[in-house]
Amino acid sequence: MKRIAVLTSGGDAPGLNAAIRAVVRTASYYNIETIGVKRGFKGLIEKEFEPLTPRSVGGILGRGGTILLTAREPRFKEKEFRQKAVENLKSENIDALFVIGGNGSFQGAYLLSKEFDFPIIGIPKTIDNDTFGTEYTIGFDTAVNNAMEAVDKIRDTGMSHERIFVVEVMGRKSGFIALDVGISSGADITLIPEYPFPLHVIVQKLKKSYESGKKFSIIVVAEGVTSAKTLAEVLEHYLKDEDLGGIRYSVLGYIQRGGSPTAKDRIIASRFGKKAVEYYLEGERDIMVAMENGKITKKPLSITFGKIKKPELEDFELVNILTL
Ligand code: F6P
Repeated sequence: MKRIAVLTSGGDAPGLNAAIRAVVRTASYYNIETIGVKRGFKGLIEKEFEPLTPRSVGGILGRGGTILLTAREPRFKEKEFRQKAVENLKSENIDALFVIGGNGSFQGAYLLSKEFDFPIIGIPKTIDNDTFGTEYTIGFDTAVNNAMEAVDKIRDTGMSHERIFVVEVMGRKSGFIALDVGISSGADITLIPEYPFPLHVIVQKLKKSYESGKKFSIIVVAEGVTSAKTLAEVLEHYLKDEDLGGIRYSVLGYIQRGGSPTAKDRIIASRFGKKAVEYYLEGERDIMVAMENGKITKKPLSITFGKIKKPELEDFELVNILTL
């Protein structure tokens, strides 16, 4: 009987449990045993293994976080620890490792495969949706919905007090969350790292909007551009002579990463998990399951890191066109 291992690595994302469940149940359907690895690569090095069964992954589909726990493990950058990881896998007769992770995790897993000839199958997750080679990563939709709902609430208080609100969303290096939150919450200005927006244009836009009778504004900023606090202070300075109702800021932070996954995240995680096992059975290795034109496909693991995935310029234009 074949045996696979599965782990979750890097920042958590809603839908990880749905992916774990799909891997375990699909594997079982094809008579493969699954071993869960706790705490990502850390647990791989320290051999924190536990058998997963179709029953043990019951009741987790709608739960946020990850039942396997997750970690960022700096030791995995060193070959001696990757070797230890492979020794641990081989000592349990495990034939392949399924990594539910983002580009950083895939880079580590790819090295492990190249150096020690150990098969890897990747399943993309990150709320940032910035993994190259796939249109979608597990967790993105839930994060966008979490942030959109928060901005809707901030809008109520912003309107009531006729204030400018700067709302910071996650995305250390990317603007996918900010862009979709900007579009779906009707933000007046959306700032993302991929398409810079000059400060004087922001100031002009706010003044124009105020003069036209709109007395409040929402600015959504990706954390990769600047902090909400800094932006609020800069705007305060440039708008100090204007009779505006004041500027406030809000950092949404980790609430974006938590909570029950949306239907979309549960469904895509289930599809990714099932297909990952089937690709493995077809003899694939060192691939990532991916979404392309709305369909599930596979990509070489080697293309998933070191390249930048950029939001569509058209979406950036959209968010700007639809504001006053
Ligand atoms: O999951 C991606 C992400 O949410 C980034 O947007 C953010 O900068 C980062 O993780 C922070 O996570 P942590 O504090 O866990 O490193």
